[in-house]
Amino acid sequence: MIEIAGLTKSYGATTVLDGIDLSVGQAQIAAVVGPSGAGKSTLARCINLLERPTSGTIAVDGQDLTRLSRRDLRQARRQIGTVFQSANLLRRRTAAQNVALPMRHAGLSEAETRRRVGDLLERVGMRHRANHYPSQLSGGQRQRIGIARGLALDPAVLLADEATSGLDPDSTRAILDLLTELRDDLGLTVVVITHEMDVVRSIADVVAQLDHGRIVEQGAVADVVRRSDSGLSRALLPLPPAPGAERLRTWNVRYEQDDVSPVWLVQAGRELDTDIAVLAALVEAAGESRVGRLALGLDPHLDDRRVTEVLARHGVVAEPLEPPERVLLHAVRDAGAGAA
Ligand SMILES: Nc1ncnc2c1ncn2[C@@H]1O[C@H](COP(=O)(O)OP(=O)(O)O)[C@@H](O)[C@H]1O
Ligand SMILES: [Mg+2]
Repeated sequence: MIEIAGLTKSYGATTVLDGIDLSVGQAQIAAVVGPSGAGKSTLARCINLLERPTSGTIAVDGQDLTRLSRRDLRQARRQIGTVFQSANLLRRRTAAQNVALPMRHAGLSEAETRRRVGDLLERVGMRHRANHYPSQLSGGQRQRIGIARGLALDPAVLLADEATSGLDPDSTRAILDLLTELRDDLGLTVVVITHEMDVVRSIADVVAQLDHGRIVEQGAVADVVRRSDSGLSRALLPLPPAPGAERLRTWNVRYEQDDVSPVWLVQAGRELDTDIAVLAALVEAAGESRVGRLALGLDPHLDDRRVTEVLARHGVVAEPLEPPERVLLHAVRDAGAGAA
């Protein structure tokens, strides 16, 4: 596991990271999101010890990495594997040689290196590409080699800075599946730095949003999505615009419980003796639970209290929005936030 406390990084008078507190449990995937220039890559370079923090502590499995001597630092760096955007492989080395590089630097024996390289290529599904050069591989394949190289010295933490940026959706999906597998099979702690909310939604257990060097919001993904009015939750589950809401009263609804029934909407309509229009909806799995946000259109003559009570019994929180135009504005703005 990794525990960051009071982490600050300044370049001269410019403070790029300002009091970061973040902890990620073993076998968890954490996503760090935020706009360009927020400090994400600087945070990554502090975690993998390419940069010395100005102040604060970074502990991996209880060992504070910021307080180590030069010699111990070299050893400690092995605890953290890094995967960069577009893999950064050496062009003149084969896939296998790229994966072997950190092992050679660490002084592993020839036999041990060969065995480990074989195992790692197997694990990332690239054994059949061992002797290919980077230029002979697709972007997704290069990224798999990058991941294998990141795992070369058996780290406790794998750090991926924009590892899926620029990949097509299928390759992205495959890389995300691989990261999830590594978490589950090896108990690896994974820190994924990304600006893609789809990535967060599909693999992260916890998420932290960075802005101007500070964490402005963090928590378990499912919890964040359930918080009604947070920018991060709207970015994670943006609702599309809701046409046709004119004659209906619009209700903003979100899943509050883990065990919302798949047929709750039909049941609620029956209990309220009314037809319910779904104006916009997003229901997805987040870890073990389902999270959802919906805009529903209801008969304006219904009693607000009754609607709220009936829906609450089904494990969802509902708030009416009025005038009706407002939901359109909300939805449009929300959809925009998701694209950032
Ligand atoms: N070595 C450096 N010296 C001075 N400023 C830097 C340095 N590295 C990054 N920065 C500044 O820190 C801020 C955050 O950069 P970065 O961590 O790359 O953000 P992100 O990865 O979120 O886009 C930027 O304003 C950038 O200009
Ligand atoms: Mg960056």
